[in-house]
Amino acid sequence: PEEVIKDQLNRPIRDLRLSVTDRCNFRCTYCMPKEVFGDDYVFLPKNELLTFEEIERLATIFAQLGVKKLRITGGEPLMRSHIDQLILKLNQIKGIEDIGLTTNGLLLKSYASKLKSAGLNRLNISLDALDKKISGLMNGRGIDPDYILQNIVQAQALGFQIKVNMVVQKNVNEQEIIPMANYFKKLGITLRFIEFMDAGNDNGWSFEKVVTKKEMLDIIEKEFEIEPVSKDYFGEVAKRYKYKDCNSEIGFITSVSQSFCSTCTRARISSDGKFYTCLFASDGFDLKKMLRLGATDEELTKAIVHVWEQRTDRYSDERTEQTIKNRTKINMSYIGG
Ligand code: GTP
Ligand code: 5AD
Ligand code: SF4
Ligand code: SF4
Repeated sequence: PEEVIKDQLNRPIRDLRLSVTDRCNFRCTYCMPKEVFGDDYVFLPKNELLTFEEIERLATIFAQLGVKKLRITGGEPLMRSHIDQLILKLNQIKGIEDIGLTTNGLLLKSYASKLKSAGLNRLNISLDALDKKISGLMNGRGIDPDYILQNIVQAQALGFQIKVNMVVQKNVNEQEIIPMANYFKKLGITLRFIEFMDAGNDNGWSFEKVVTKKEMLDIIEKEFEIEPVSKDYFGEVAKRYKYKDCNSEIGFITSVSQSFCSTCTRARISSDGKFYTCLFASDGFDLKKMLRLGATDEELTKAIVHVWEQRTDRYSDERTEQTIKNRTKINMSYIGG
């Protein structure tokens, strides 16, 4: 049986978020603003990325330490070629009960059926507005939301369980909360409202630009009757509600107004093989270096256990104007949210 490891705050390791590329075909203002991620931005060279074999090896070790859930992220994970082949492999790892992928949905049209055949069942798809202008501005590429919506409907028809992620920003897309809720309620797809976070160092974040869960609830409860739903599992990120008149759900991801660090069981690996114990970390532990110097599984296990057992991260619990200024953080597109 697996070893159970706990960090300094008694949190086990349960989820592993694997970033497979730092590139993205969008330039969301809150994640990869064009002014920073321009044509001359230097992304990781291919040989710095973990190979599928390396990712599989690490995931197998993490599974032995208690990880049950894997999430594939990016940048945009569908920009990594043959990602379906990685999923096929990850699906065979003993102990892994659930695999999800977080995507902007643009490449789903051609990719969705391959992903389904590889055994993927869950997709989280980002969409911030139904309005073409707002959506196009927020994704930084003028991508038409109708195109993403078509891909969402197609993926739903293929049998994927889908959640839609909407980052809500003050004076940017608050007016889209109700139209988005209506649209996805009818489709039976869970829409999750995400509080704008101070991820990375480049997204111009400030407390004033956050729409809190409470503010969003006030807007939603004027239009719909909803009731809270109890948690699915320990450490669930979203606070869930269901509509009283149907089975559709919504959720709130409240990193700013109600942090959830005390139950955070998530580890992250960047596409270049660094192991991070928090989304807001400044530094990670270089597993790729160990892999490429020929470390054994035993040595890798020991290093991972050591890092997790030292873990004290609770950034969102401690977030203040001051802590924000004092930290250089990794970019959201580098670590995949
Ligand atoms: P499910 O397994 O479907 O619940 O996925 P998820 O919500 O954990 O993952 P997803 O990639 O869809 O992330 C949704 C939002 O939650 C993103 O904005 C993430 O950055 C945010 N998020 C996920 N995990 C954490 C976390 O540990 N801390 C913080 N602060 N935000 C997180
Ligand atoms: N704040 C909140 N959510 C963000 N995401 C990206 N950047 C931010 C941010 N600054 C979301 C994306 C995607 C998920 C992986 O993270 O919209 O749904
Ligand atoms: Fe790309 Fe996702 Fe970041 Fe938008 S939020 S720029 S889709 S990685
Ligand atoms: Fe976990 Fe860090 Fe997010 Fe807190 S801020 S929930 S410790 S990843």
